[in-house]
Amino acid sequence: MALVSKGLEGVVAAETRLGEVKGAEGVLFYCGYDINELAGKVSYEEVVYLLFHNRLPNREEYDQFVTALRAERELPQGVIDFLRSAPKTAKPIDIMRTAVSMLGCYDTMRHDLTMSAELATAVKLVSQIGIIAAYFHRARQGLSLPPVRKDLGEAAHFLYLINDEVPSKEAEATLDVAYVLHAEHGFNASTFTARVVASTLSDMYSAISAAIGALKGPLHGGANEGVIHMLEEIGDLDKVDAWVEDALAQKKKIMGIGHRVYKVLDPRAPHLKEMAIKLSNQLGDAKWIQMSERIATIMSEQKGLNANVDFYSATVYYSLGIPTDLFTPIFAISRMSGWTAHVLEQWSENRLFRPLSEYIGKPYGQKVVPIDER
Ligand SMILES: CC(C)(COP(=O)(O)OP(=O)(O)OC[C@H]1O[C@@H](n2cnc3c(N)ncnc32)[C@H](O)[C@@H]1OP(=O)(O)O)[C@@H](O)C(=O)NCCC(=O)NCCS
Repeated sequence: MALVSKGLEGVVAAETRLGEVKGAEGVLFYCGYDINELAGKVSYEEVVYLLFHNRLPNREEYDQFVTALRAERELPQGVIDFLRSAPKTAKPIDIMRTAVSMLGCYDTMRHDLTMSAELATAVKLVSQIGIIAAYFHRARQGLSLPPVRKDLGEAAHFLYLINDEVPSKEAEATLDVAYVLHAEHGFNASTFTARVVASTLSDMYSAISAAIGALKGPLHGGANEGVIHMLEEIGDLDKVDAWVEDALAQKKKIMGIGHRVYKVLDPRAPHLKEMAIKLSNQLGDAKWIQMSERIATIMSEQKGLNANVDFYSATVYYSLGIPTDLFTPIFAISRMSGWTAHVLEQWSENRLFRPLSEYIGKPYGQKVVPIDER
């Protein structure tokens, strides 16, 4: 019998030059740069360039790249009409998945798998994904859609669009670091999904809409929204212990805790924790971070499980005044760089993904009984 690895745990499915998650040591690096080296020192746009070109840009390359990203900020009118007419109750992440698929229908460039054409599509997707999320968020509240601007970076532009107001330097810097920390993460479920779709030589839009669908799930990117729902349900610091005990007794998963690969602390978590503490103190509302800390302590002591990236990013976004159902969309906005870089890498050395399965059904040789005799 073949060895089955449920959930493909421990299976190396391909080679990559983009990023490495070292689970035993709690290390994450992009193209050789430790996440601790990048966070706070480079902008999200520099990280996108790094992932696309395997090296950091010099000043001239950076300026050109930023100009190219900002030049793509106009959405096709048909996509804007969709964002305005879509059900207001729809989940923003579903709207993003659908809108990315629509963008593919409006793209007049041929899907020819040449690196320059596909890189241009990747740049467009990185540029437009945040606008899609922000415009839908405005439209569902019956608010106007602020015109796109070319003078703001990716993180600032998203905050500007959702609030129709240029954000503070501090809010911009906070979201920018969150984007940097979420940009790439090896063969996680959504990235693997994108590469599987790309491996059939389907197009970038198909690969990315599938990836967004994978990210949405609560075991993956959806966990950050789950963290806030959990904190709201618990309500107060003095209720945390009993709530967690009850949840564990019911074999419920605590959102934002645990990881398939990291067996020690997720290296992104301390950065987000630090930002969450700072923002909570500024807001004078330490309750959420105190509750989070208590949950993390209990889970570490009782189950030996650590907080992951979603655990503290939830409090960071909450403290920035971002609505809960935009948390997973923010993850998708920043991961767009990693997804598209992986799709490009897949095509540069493509081989169709086609694993095997272990058959455990009825024995071979069943005979068909005529339908009226069954
Ligand atoms: C991330 C995650 C899906 C990894 O799952 P996995 O590698 O398949 O691990 P398993 O679900 O098999 O869990 C292994 C054990 O740890 C426990 N466990 C893992 N994460 C847990 C959590 N968040 N809360 C409670 N128990 C948890 C499981 O119940 C299981 O215990 P058991 O062996 O006694 O049955 C899982 O930790 C999880 O569901 N976390 C919450 C969702 C989340 O935050 N996702 C974002 C990840 S970045």
